[in-house]
Formats: sequence, C-alpha cells, structure tokens
Amino acid sequence: MKISTVSPLALPALLLALAAFSSAEAKKKVLIYSYTEGFRHYSIPTAVKTIRSLGKNNTPGWDSVHSEDPTDFNKDGYLDQFDALVFVSVSGKALSTKGAANMRKYIEAGGGYMGIHEACDALDDHAWYGRLVGAYFDYHPEICHATLNVEDRSHPSVAHLGKTWKVYDEMYNFRSNPRDYGKQLVLSADESSYPDPVTSKADRAALQGSPHPIAWYKEGGQLDYNPHVKVGGGTDPKKKDRKKHVEGKGGDGRSFYTALGHTNASWRDSDFQGHILGALRWVLESPTLRSSSPDADSSRPGSKYDGDSSSSSDDGDGSDSDDDGGASVSSSNANVGVDAGDSSDTASLQLLSGSGDAEPTSIVVNGHRVPYSSGNVHAASSPSSSAASPPLAAAGALQRWTSTAVTLAVGALACGVVAL
Ligand SMILES: *[C@@H]1O[C@H](CO)[C@@H](O)[C@H](O)[C@H]1NC(C)=O
Repeated sequence: MKISTVSPLALPALLLALAAFSSAEAKKKVLIYSYTEGFRHYSIPTAVKTIRSLGKNNTPGWDSVHSEDPTDFNKDGYLDQFDALVFVSVSGKALSTKGAANMRKYIEAGGGYMGIHEACDALDDHAWYGRLVGAYFDYHPEICHATLNVEDRSHPSVAHLGKTWKVYDEMYNFRSNPRDYGKQLVLSADESSYPDPVTSKADRAALQGSPHPIAWYKEGGQLDYNPHVKVGGGTDPKKKDRKKHVEGKGGDGRSFYTALGHTNASWRDSDFQGHILGALRWVLESPTLRSSSPDADSSRPGSKYDGDSSSSSDDGDGSDSDDDGGASVSSSNANVGVDAGDSSDTASLQLLSGSGDAEPTSIVVNGHRVPYSSGNVHAASSPSSSAASPPLAAAGALQRWTSTAVTLAVGALACGVVAL
C-alpha cells in the first residue's frame, strides 16, 4: 500500500470520506448489448430497463452500460472494463469481424457472459460463440403456458423457485445439446405441458437432448472445443480455422444462458427477475475477474477491485451509462490520487473548497459529495506523515476496503476520526 499525492491534511479527510461511504456497495459493471440485425423483440426496452434497475436496487448489484452500437466492440480494450457482457435478444450478425475477435479475446481472458432469449440466434458465423452460448436456436412453437422443471436448485438463478415453475413464454428448441459442451442445466421444459405441432419430436430430442434444455450455466472452459463431439448448428469450427486457432479456446470465466424473456410481462414477473438477478450475480462472482481479488492479474478483464469499480461508471464515452444520482459538482481543487499498490487504480476523489480556502469544505468520492470539517478529524493537525504514522497505518487498512463498514470503522478509529 502506498499513498501518493495525499497531504497529511487530506489523508484523514480521505478516510473520513470513505468511511462515510461504507454503506455504498462496490459494484461490478456489465455491458448490456441488444443490437439486432435480424428479428427485434419488442420487449428489449423493458428487458434493458429491468436489468439496469435490478443492478441498481440490489446488493450485491451492478452498474450497467447499455449499447446497441456494434462499433463499441471494435474499440481496443473497451470490453476490459466490464465484468460481464449481457446479450439481450441480440440477433443476426451482431458484430463485425474485429468486434467478434475482441469479444472472443475477452471471453478467453476470463470475462463473463450472459445470454438471454434470442441471444442464441446471433453470431452463427462464429463457431466459438455457439460454444459460449451453448447451442443455437432452432425453432419455437407458438408462445404458450408451459411448466418448467427446476433441475438444480443449488444454483442462484433458480434457488428461489420450487420444483416446477409455470411460465408464459416461448419454448425454444435448439440445434444441438448444450450438455455436449459441459453446460449444467438449471431449467428444462416439460414437453407434455404445452402443444408443439412439430412431429419430429424424436429428432428434436436427438439434437438438443433430454430433458429439453431451457437455461444452463458453465464455469470455465467456455470456448473449449471437443473434436469428438459433433454438435453442428455452426458450433463446429472448420478445419482451416482449427489450424489457425481462430476458433477460440479456454475462457475460464462464467457463462449463463436462459431461453426465457420474450414478453414485457415476463420481465415484470418477480420470479423471472429473481432468475435474472441470481444468474447475473453468479456470473459476476467469477474468481477470474480483476474485480474479484486485490491480487488479480491485471491482464484479467473486469472492473476495478473494491470501491474503485463505481468510479468508472461515468466513463464519458458517450454510451448510455448509468447515472445513479451522484451530485455533479464543479470542483476547484486538486484531485487526490490513491495508489492502490500494484495497479494504477485511482478512486475518484476530489477536495472542494471555496476560493482561497486552505482547507477543503467537502469531498467528492466517486461522484458523491461528503461534507468535510477539520474539526471532525483529530489527526488533521498532525505534522507527521511517515509511513509509521497512525493515519498511514490506518490507510493501509483501506486497501482492503471491501465496502464493509467493519474495515472502515477500524481504519477510522485508528485515525482518530471522532465524528462522521
Ligand atoms: C413493451 O414495452 C415497451 C416499453 O418498454 C413498449 O414500447 C411496448 O409497446 C410494449 N409491448 C407490448 C406488446 O406490450
């Protein structure tokens, strides 16, 4: 732990500010992508709104950026800030060759992926995507009331459900069996519970397997290709691609796919919201993400570890980014950089003061304004700034700031902060 550009005065102020924000949850960050080249679902706006508010209103939740611009994926390094990519009924050739390559590299590096509904009907010119999502779309009978069987209640995406779940949705059928690529089923369709006029039921089961897959997850090996499993449906790389290794491999992060989510009503249903919330939380808890550990390899994708994650939500790149009401403040003073040690993480901290004031009047932490008073801070007058001084020792505790009040309370006490 090393603190740079922090004056002896600012350091306790910084502690004070962070302590005041101990209740703010450090959030992961997702990119919600809903570009459609083929069919466009009318429920996309409802879906995007719901995913964003689920992230905002739950703890742990997530910050989100919404995009329908394929060229976002073309930007080098752009995806690295996200802990997961959430594909909401993306359809057709949804990425350029370069964008697809960037996404594949993101997955190979341990990034997370969640596919929803028609996300299985996109990028079928990229075999690795088929292995990531698990299977490509085949067809669905008319939207219907159907009964789903919960296959694995130990998974957070379905832990809130009973043994069965009645839904009104499209029962997707797939061109291959997601289990052939190691996907673990959490939901299956009870085919006796709804009409499907397609007669080749046996053929269908042979392709997608039985029970009828509806939602599944996988940890690790996202793009692993198994030459002994011919699943078709675009998921088999061509021989020349295999030689060139352009088909992708590895990917030790987490993926989740659910075929549900056709209607606006489904997105307003609390059981469905619980399904999405549990699934995305699980994806975001992947240990392969940079945000999951202070010791994470910096080449890993994901938001920054700890409270720093929310500092990047205002990324100013023109995307439709979350603004969760942080005060916009015109600052007049210096930024306070916090060197988190081995990385170049910088919390968004600003000291604000009236013109000519020697002391700050307030502090802005990641966009939130906190009043500052030197009377609150005993250590503020201490001339000592050696590494052994109580403020710096306390600041050491901050590196492990995981938005828990306990850590901060200890830090604040050691520093001599008496009132918040
Ligand atoms: C679904 O919701 C969107 C707004 O989120 C609205 O524009 C659309 O008309 C709705 N469609 C139906 C069929 O209810």
